[in-house]
Amino acid sequence: MNRSKFALVPLRAADNLLLVDADPVELVRSGYNAISGAYRSDDDPAHEYDPWLAGLLERIPGRGQVLDIGCGCGVPVARRLAAAGHQVTGVDISDIQIERARRLVPGAVFLCADATETDFPPGSFDAVVCLYALIHMPLDRQPRLLRDITRWLRPGGWLLAVTGQDAWTGTEDNWLGGTASMWWSQADAATYRTWLTQAGMVVTSQQFVPEGDGGHALFWARLKPAGSPQAGTADGSSARASGAQANPQSTSAACRSQEPR
Ligand SMILES: C[S@@+](CC[C@H](N)C(=O)[O-])C[C@H]1O[C@@H](n2cnc3c(N)ncnc32)[C@H](O)[C@@H]1O
Repeated sequence: MNRSKFALVPLRAADNLLLVDADPVELVRSGYNAISGAYRSDDDPAHEYDPWLAGLLERIPGRGQVLDIGCGCGVPVARRLAAAGHQVTGVDISDIQIERARRLVPGAVFLCADATETDFPPGSFDAVVCLYALIHMPLDRQPRLLRDITRWLRPGGWLLAVTGQDAWTGTEDNWLGGTASMWWSQADAATYRTWLTQAGMVVTSQQFVPEGDGGHALFWARLKPAGSPQAGTADGSSARASGAQANPQSTSAACRSQEPR
């Protein structure tokens, strides 16, 4: 076990403060299970996403195939894209988020899975959306997921991603005023830009999205259209099961009880 991938999380037992190893991925899953409704209500208009979704709708063809990684409860991204006629596949590690997404956006398909352990056939999607989700995944898995995304995109396909702006890894207890802890692990924006380029995508836009005292980076990146030099240069070496369908069965026991209906 690589202990560097594990955060020390304080847990109270009786009056003693104990420090125990916690799997950060499990912390994220259970944290979003606990905080799902507080993070986003069923009818959250999330107007801050409006320009991003408008930009996406301009870029992708009618009835496109869109993958939403870390889709949360499906609101607003999957709901808005499905309403516009797109075929949306959402992936999220939290079974509560997925349960809500299936209820809130019945026209989309949702998989309860760790995105870093999921696979799709090459060229499956016209666009991949990944908003505020990469930053909850172990840093050493993020470049590989970006290479996988490149492989899952069709030539000319788009990635819309919100990543870290500044590098930081850490845990916050009582997140959003609840009892759950949450874990983040993010690189800085320049590193994400490098990873996107190394994965074989062309970054067409990078913006700073302010939040409180800090903020995030928003990237639009594109796989070059067929026929362009360097189209599809991602080597696909990260493929874990090339050509395989998404395999939610490879995920946690909690997710296995939430297979797509
Ligand atoms: C901050 S929320 C964002 C939700 C949604 N994208 C939005 O912008 O409203 C992050 C989401 O990513 C999910 N997530 C975190 N790590 C994940 C992983 N390894 N695989 C799939 N989903 C993950 C969490 O469960 C959570 O629902």
